Amino acid sequence: MIKIISPEDVLAIRNEVLREGRLTLNECRFPTDTIDGAFHLGYYVDEELACIASFFPQNYEGYSGAGYQLRGMATVEKHRGGGLGTLLLNFAIVYLQGKKAGYLWCNARKAALKFYMNNGFEIISPEFDVPGIGPHYVMYLKIK
Ligand SMILES: CC(C)(COP(=O)(O)OP(=O)(O)OC[C@H]1O[C@@H](n2cnc3c(N)ncnc32)[C@H](O)[C@@H]1OP(=O)(O)O)[C@@H](O)C(=O)NCCC(=O)NCCS
Repeated sequence: MIKIISPEDVLAIRNEVLREGRLTLNECRFPTDTIDGAFHLGYYVDEELACIASFFPQNYEGYSGAGYQLRGMATVEKHRGGGLGTLLLNFAIVYLQGKKAGYLWCNARKAALKFYMNNGFEIISPEFDVPGIGPHYVMYLKIK
């Protein structure tokens, strides 16, 4: 089941999946977690949170319409490759259509490129490095 969840709810999986459990939960907060218009989604399997993503109203230079940035997309290891990420993203897109969003963008890890491309995103930047994390691309999805 997919639900809107609180900024607190995402912290443990952010740490475990995206920071290899190296940070404190507090360090896993994004400064934008509680800004107006931000929302967080969770996919629950048997009442256990299995997949998360966060969305922030934030334009990307050069693109028209209301932009949202996707951050903190993560599925716990045992459920990876099971389609949860795709279902969560599809839910988000319908929700964002309701908010009249024009597009979604993200800084995608190179390792997750295929996931985003399978879901209709395109690469809109050269490869760049995020220190301590690795190679990334900016990816873009128009919301129709
Ligand atoms: C990327 C991620 C969020 C996708 O979520 P998911 O629930 O596994 O997604 P789905 O099952 O809907 O899609 C799986 C696709 O993701 C891709 N993928 C990327 N990394 C993967 C991984 N470690 N395990 C399984 N699939 C992965 C595969 O290409 C797969 O496509 P395929 O079935 O055609 O091979 C998830 O794999 C994950 O948490 N990875 C580690 C953290 C990460 O890189 N997050 C993205 C940061 S930008």
